[in-house]
Amino acid sequence: MAAGKPREVWGNKLGIILAVAGSAVGLGNFLRFPVQAAQNGGGAFMIPYFISFLLLGIPLMWIEWAIGRHGGLFGHGSAPFILNRLSQHRIVKYLGVIGIFGPVVIFIYYTYIESWLLGYAFFALTGQLFANVSPEGMKGFLAAYQGLAPGSNIWTAYLFFLLTFAVNFYFLYRGVRGGIEILCKIAMPVLFVCGFILAGRILMMPNITEGLGYLWNPDFSVLGSAKVWMAAAGQIFFTLSVGIGVILTYASYLKHGDDVVLSGLTAASTNELAEVVLGGSIVIPAAFVFLGAAGASQAAASGAFNLGFVTMPLIFGQLSFGAVFALLWFLLLFLAGITSSVSLAEPAVAFIVDEFKLERKRAVLRLGLALFLLCQFSIFFLGQGVVDELDFWGGTFALVLFGTIETVLFVWVFGMDKAWDEMHRGAELTIPRFYRPIIKYVTPTFLFLILGSWFWQQGVPVIMMRGVPEANRPYVLATRLGLVILFAAIALLVRLAYYRNKEKAA
Ligand code: ALA
Repeated sequence: MAAGKPREVWGNKLGIILAVAGSAVGLGNFLRFPVQAAQNGGGAFMIPYFISFLLLGIPLMWIEWAIGRHGGLFGHGSAPFILNRLSQHRIVKYLGVIGIFGPVVIFIYYTYIESWLLGYAFFALTGQLFANVSPEGMKGFLAAYQGLAPGSNIWTAYLFFLLTFAVNFYFLYRGVRGGIEILCKIAMPVLFVCGFILAGRILMMPNITEGLGYLWNPDFSVLGSAKVWMAAAGQIFFTLSVGIGVILTYASYLKHGDDVVLSGLTAASTNELAEVVLGGSIVIPAAFVFLGAAGASQAAASGAFNLGFVTMPLIFGQLSFGAVFALLWFLLLFLAGITSSVSLAEPAVAFIVDEFKLERKRAVLRLGLALFLLCQFSIFFLGQGVVDELDFWGGTFALVLFGTIETVLFVWVFGMDKAWDEMHRGAELTIPRFYRPIIKYVTPTFLFLILGSWFWQQGVPVIMMRGVPEANRPYVLATRLGLVILFAAIALLVRLAYYRNKEKAA
């Protein structure tokens, strides 16, 4: 908080619920989820998915809402200092650095990808997108847009990036209540309207039941595979935005007696509606209807980006009023993206404002400059594997690690009795009693299991750079070095702020 000024608070309950739901509903719901489901057993994927939702997603939602509100009462909105309220051990604030580092790393590539959506919405409007009628043509169009095709340049993409970045920082600059809350109150209803129109159109297609069957028919044989369970748990983390560090920051702007139990549950359920109902009805079923089983599985295997930017525009190109549906599609994704990306920047803003007592607008400008410079790496080294590397450390590993740390600190160090009371202060719903042992034992055990097997199955191959083309290795190593420097810089700032504020208080 700037000297003498009280911390900001949300305007009303709907505002915070929509802001958290806005952070959660993102590209993960509409692109990542259907790909994960299609590749990991279809309907059977929903078993580990819902188990992860109940045992990890919901508990982490409540934990983050509760610890965030708790930290906010002491004037802290970023993870190092929120966690420090749970335990004063000197190491804890450094563990909290992950809760600023993680979202910043995701922001660096997420915003660039978000800007492609704005670009594609524009191309849908101008009709340029529909000049490509084959998958190869559409892939070539995407590669040219990204500046990766021979003879192409990046400047159109760069222009849309500048616009997207400016819009993000405009809302951040306007503040929590006057910026983020207003954005989410407008964007979320529009997003749902777009989603229901698109899902309605797809569900009216002939043979759609077979398309839905293709995605949802369960293949139970996959349930013995650890990979499927890890994919489901990873999807829950990413889609709910838990473990990232953003929800605790949003919750720090709650008031003392504001409910967290029902509100957290409502935000999580809104995300699931967008993910399972809308995300599960659009891309894969549509791909099946147009491309058949083999084409749909090929499209899913080619990854979330190809589905979103190649397969879907091709499908829209074959529909009457296809340009309108394509526009709705990219608008939906852009709104889903921007309500998530502002949340990714907010922990760093809160850190500067609360701990360095800088006025918000000045903090946002300084952070904007730093993040703008960092984004350049994603833009200019996309083809060299930099985004994949950032996604692994920021968007996959850091979330599970931070989720584990905050759970252990809240439940075991702060203590389960106090944690339970903290979650129930002002609660409009009592958490069923059986959740107590779940939060105390099952959630942390589940987290350690995921962390261990994840590290073994994915961490080791990634660290050893298996599968990374020879030519990309220097870039991947440089990215890692950059990440270490970024982490160390944030840790240093945390240390500086901590001792400065301690001295002032003495
Ligand atoms: N939760 C956000 C998403 O699903 C990050 O994209």
